[in-house]
Amino acid sequence: MVRFVTCLLFAISLCSNASAFSFSDKEIEQIRSLGPWPQAFTSDASNRFSGRAEAIAFGKLLFETEDLSPDRDQGCSICHQANRAFTDGLNLGQGIAGVGRNTPSLFDVRLRQWYGWSGQSDTLWSASIRPILDPREMGMSPESVRERVSEINEFSLAYQTMTGENPRDHNEDQVLVNVGKALAAFQETLNSQVTAFDRFRKGLLEADKVAIDEYPKNAKRGLRLFLGKANCVRCHDGPNFALDEFHNIGLPDVDDEGRDSGLDILAANPWVKSGAFSDQKSDGPDRTSPHETLKAFRVPSLRGLSKTAPYMHDGRFETLLEAVSHYSDFDEQDLPQTGEKILEPLGLTHRQIDQLVAFLMTLSE
Ligand code: HEC
Ligand code: HEC
Repeated sequence: MVRFVTCLLFAISLCSNASAFSFSDKEIEQIRSLGPWPQAFTSDASNRFSGRAEAIAFGKLLFETEDLSPDRDQGCSICHQANRAFTDGLNLGQGIAGVGRNTPSLFDVRLRQWYGWSGQSDTLWSASIRPILDPREMGMSPESVRERVSEINEFSLAYQTMTGENPRDHNEDQVLVNVGKALAAFQETLNSQVTAFDRFRKGLLEADKVAIDEYPKNAKRGLRLFLGKANCVRCHDGPNFALDEFHNIGLPDVDDEGRDSGLDILAANPWVKSGAFSDQKSDGPDRTSPHETLKAFRVPSLRGLSKTAPYMHDGRFETLLEAVSHYSDFDEQDLPQTGEKILEPLGLTHRQIDQLVAFLMTLSE
């Protein structure tokens, strides 16, 4: 009997080796569109300082300082910590007061068109001005920003190097916008690393058997689900695994208007692509959507997740297992009843959920 079971196990293992994984032509085309990585740098036409060394240097100073807050105790890098992929490990961001949303990573942020969970900004420099003025985050006013930049020698010099002018000769709106543009130039340099998935993708496209075999089998199975049965790629697509779309994914008890509030803020935001402070006269990305916008949030990137827990706009899930399980067994009552219908509970097995998680882990260094 023991011998029979042993033989059987041997046969099964032979069989699973024989069926060594191969992707279909259609899958290979889908995988092609998930790269290349890294993405080439393109400068932001709405920011005249984008890509300039003096701006990046000034932006780094501003990002790391606590002097841009009334009591000199808040700053970008308190919430966006470099050793945590520029997140804070908290469910919800905490500055002068609670921010009410999870602090997103700033890696690869230059690849976005919309910023923030509800897309309340359409430029990176505007998304960098927002926290400075938000009374829950850094709580400054345009006047107090101008004052600090003028009185702190290091800032004043860096400002002058970047703009060619003294901050005292600029009004508070000009200083604020230039500070935002320097911060954006710095954040454009925050690129996540090449991952196991990127090496596999390259290997697959070049038919490099060693690189293909190196990629774990569980991750391959997870990738197949991601592209096929689970259709995660419908929203988490492209090299950054995120379309710039807003969706309600049926999370229960969401107490945040999401995209609806983002659109309201955008309508009153003076620092938009089409605004007077933009260096590129453009309408900016399309604000309309075929999907329900109430409680919808911007699709997050899936790169680097191993360092960015907890997950979702409100940090409700501590682990990737919980986040992926949501798609398997959510209540359809929690989906919007209007707009295009995309999601339905996937009813995945435990093994399939593990495979999806194994795949997601290969998108981190
Ligand atoms: C109190 C914590 C906190 C501070 C301080 C803070 N942030 Fe954030 N940041 C957040 C949170 C939370 C969000 C998400 C906000 C939202 O979606 O409403 C965010 C979002 C962003 C985004 C949008 C990212 C994306 O993926 O769209 C950028 C860019 C950003 N912050 C840059 C900065 C800069 C630059 C500073 C300093 C000037 C800063 N943040 C200060 C917590 C903070
Ligand atoms: C309909 C579009 C859509 C589909 C399909 C989709 N997602 Fe998402 N995903 C989102 C949105 C939107 C969020 C953010 C939701 C929120 O915070 O309210 C999200 C969040 C996530 C997060 C959390 C990321 C973070 O940084 O907090 C993970 C992990 C994730 N999705 C994985 C998956 C997987 C795996 C699948 C397939 C089983 C999938 N998604 C299918 C739109 C989608």
